[in-house]
Amino acid sequence: MNSNDQGGWTERIPWVLTDYPSIIAIDGPAASGKSTLAERLARRLDFLYFDTGVMYRAVTWLALDQGISVDDERAVTRLSQKAQIDVQPPSRKDGRVYDVLVDGEDITWEIRRPEVDANVSVVSAFRGVREAMTTQQRRIGQRGQVVMVGRDIGTVVLPDADLKIYLDASVEERAHRRWKERLALGEDASFEAILEAMRRRDQIDSTRDVAPLRPAEDAVIIESDTLSIEKVLEATLDLVRSKSQ
Ligand code: DC
Repeated sequence: MNSNDQGGWTERIPWVLTDYPSIIAIDGPAASGKSTLAERLARRLDFLYFDTGVMYRAVTWLALDQGISVDDERAVTRLSQKAQIDVQPPSRKDGRVYDVLVDGEDITWEIRRPEVDANVSVVSAFRGVREAMTTQQRRIGQRGQVVMVGRDIGTVVLPDADLKIYLDASVEERAHRRWKERLALGEDASFEAILEAMRRRDQIDSTRDVAPLRPAEDAVIIESDTLSIEKVLEATLDLVRSKSQ
């Protein structure tokens, strides 16, 4: 259990009001803290937490695993259309917050490997891959009571979301966070290499033709460089409350 689960942190907001925002979209660049924010927000609201990045990661892992070149758009797109990607409640207490299954195989940790990090931006820029993933994401999102995280949730997947947050931070701060995570895992990580890879991913994610990373016009932009996750969560909960009045 992590240290943030103490005190009033896990207290849930009661579902008394039916006009609470029911679809919450959180977008932002890699390592902006959006997944942590979304997971905690979902717990507080008793909503489903759905991190759409895992779907693009799963397709990337499948391609690498099957020896399919990630530059082969047709083959990767076919793979994404056939793959059964499932996100389920965690089956193990090893730090995971959900299980990621592809065709029944547990790949929760495999999709976090550096080779997936290095190739997922290319895969997620393919139009056919995005169409396949977006259809599935929309179906889940439109059921409501969901906090959905990604790059294009507020702009493309769920443009009618009740509340849209765009969580940002400078590339240096985000690379620093990723570097600390890797060191904590005992990896021999280079800050410079992580910074360079992060810049590259930002560039691909924000300049691709289909659903580029950018804030929706009606998104609330939160800059998290100097804010702790607790402060970001409180700010977001204030927005949720203000939307429900
Ligand atoms: O959030 P993440 O690092 O797990 O996302 C992995 C990749 O997937 C990242 O390169 C951007 C892409 N992605 C996307 O294009 N659209 C989404 N809704 C979610 C992720």
